[in-house]
Amino acid sequence: MQNWKFIAVFNQNVKEELANSVLASYDRILSNLDDETKASVERYKGHSTFFKNAPFIIVCVEKFAPSFMGGVLEKAGIPNDEIKLMRPDSYLLSMGGAIENMLLSAYALGLGSCWMVAPVLGESGMRKTLNLKEDEKIVSILAFGRPAKDSTDKRSPKKGLDEIMEIIE
Ligand SMILES: Cc1cc2nc3c(=O)[nH]c(=O)nc-3n(C[C@H](O)[C@H](O)[C@H](O)COP(=O)(O)O)c2cc1C
Repeated sequence: MQNWKFIAVFNQNVKEELANSVLASYDRILSNLDDETKASVERYKGHSTFFKNAPFIIVCVEKFAPSFMGGVLEKAGIPNDEIKLMRPDSYLLSMGGAIENMLLSAYALGLGSCWMVAPVLGESGMRKTLNLKEDEKIVSILAFGRPAKDSTDKRSPKKGLDEIMEIIE
């Protein structure tokens, strides 16, 4: 279906306008929180706007399309909460697949990248900057640049296979 659109942004002003939308959204959220939660959110905030310093970003946009089988299940009278379990969001999963392919391609080209969902908090402002249509929704921002020399040393520890995999023989 390729229900997506990818917007590559090199323009510094546009990157900053996008980051400002994210900050505006944080202001709105923070104004309604207690001090302890505020402090944790402030830390999260730092992981949301640094894309503006990347040489270029790709804004990943999902285009809404009705799901054929979802409609069939509704017609068959299956309750909505059961449909959700029977039909994982294949459009969003497809976006994830496409995104991962882009990150791997970037790596093969010697580029570094960061997959970011936190900036999507600023969706309502960002969609105006990018002139998105009603059926389009931002799902991630990818930041690209040259990796720092020591970046591979900074990888977070990963869970062991025994923790995440089950084998049924
Ligand atoms: C779906 C997804 C969303 C992410 N969103 C953010 C984000 O908004 N901000 C951020 O700093 N890192 C985010 N990350 C984490 C980085 O992209 C990256 O995966 C992390 O730094 C771990 O890197 P490593 O696997 O090389 O250790 C996200 C990762 C994934 C998979």
